[in-house]
Amino acid sequence: MMNSRRDMVKGAAMTATGIVLGAMSSLKSQPAVAQQPTPQPRESISTNRLLVGKVAFVTGAARGIGRAIAELFAANGANVAMLDIADPSRLNSSTGYRVANMAEFDQAVASVQRYGTKVLKIQVDVRDLAGMQAAAERTNRELGGIDIVVANAGYCAWHSFEDGTTKQWEDVIDVNVHGVFNTAKATIPFLKQRRGGRIVNLASVGGRAGFAGNGAYTCSKWAVIGMTKQAAQELGKYNITVNAIAPGAVNTPLYRSEGQMRSMGVSSAAEQDKLIDPISPLGNAGAVEPEDIARTALFLASDAAKTISGTTIDNALGFNASYTA
Ligand SMILES: NC(=O)c1ccc[n+]([C@@H]2O[C@H](COP(=O)([O-])OP(=O)(O)OC[C@H]3O[C@@H](n4cnc5c(N)ncnc54)[C@H](O)[C@@H]3O)[C@@H](O)[C@H]2O)c1
Repeated sequence: MMNSRRDMVKGAAMTATGIVLGAMSSLKSQPAVAQQPTPQPRESISTNRLLVGKVAFVTGAARGIGRAIAELFAANGANVAMLDIADPSRLNSSTGYRVANMAEFDQAVASVQRYGTKVLKIQVDVRDLAGMQAAAERTNRELGGIDIVVANAGYCAWHSFEDGTTKQWEDVIDVNVHGVFNTAKATIPFLKQRRGGRIVNLASVGGRAGFAGNGAYTCSKWAVIGMTKQAAQELGKYNITVNAIAPGAVNTPLYRSEGQMRSMGVSSAAEQDKLIDPISPLGNAGAVEPEDIARTALFLASDAAKTISGTTIDNALGFNASYTA
């Protein structure tokens, strides 16, 4: 027999970026949430100087998790190439979510520069292999190599298989799957030159199960976990580790977007958090902060993880305890 807490959980599922309660049919009547959230203040950053002398290449770095990773890496001594599309007019098939703009990118770069290491700002679309190769070459030339690659850029358009458009499907797969491939392909030659390196891919709890209303995104994140294993098999002989992080709900513009809230059938961050709590063993926290995910990336990029490859670390307040793999 279920207690009331479990009754609340019944029928609940965490989407790639949050929770869906009930069926898509209940989603359409939800009120729109007009505004993108403003970036939250940073938590204090720990600086154990774990990456002194390293060069990191971080995609989707204009805000959210990518920005937090760039900041934490710089705080730990790394020189950082920050890459982002930073132009909502170039990727806009999603309803209720936009990618970063140049003002957000500039703000993120300034924030990373505070740590005093070298920072390279590159506006590029991860869907563009030639552009990514040029970005990798520039990073190698101007920062003296590439040691750590974080394929973080991601895109979401919340839809079911039945309702999604071909354009939405293509955009999500192009960014989240081809973008991760392009990031690896562009940087592997430089990691090999260093005789070793790290690749960290951003997957999601949506890459661990199926979640109603999140079709292409969920499929794309399963692919990220597959690509992580495949690349780990191929690159181990070059002393390159390849791992992924599967976050649950993270307090970023993506998770706090109107599209995500619509998919959860809610209209405020507080309501999102209320839904998350019952299915999170480490509940009462709502979403984790981008810095929490950055610390996992730092671990995977550091010497402490030099014998770990082909794995995916769930960072989801224990929600992952509810699925098998
Ligand atoms: N926030 C969550 O709850 C959550 C949960 C699981 C996984 N993730 C994953 O974490 C990663 C970061 O997401 P976030 O929550 O920080 O979102 P976000 O929207 O805050 O940041 C995503 C960044 O990627 C950039 N980007 C998007 N498409 C791009 C492209 N084609 N080329 C270059 N840059 C591009 C955006 O401009 C933006 O700066 C994504 O891969 C996302 O799928 C997020």
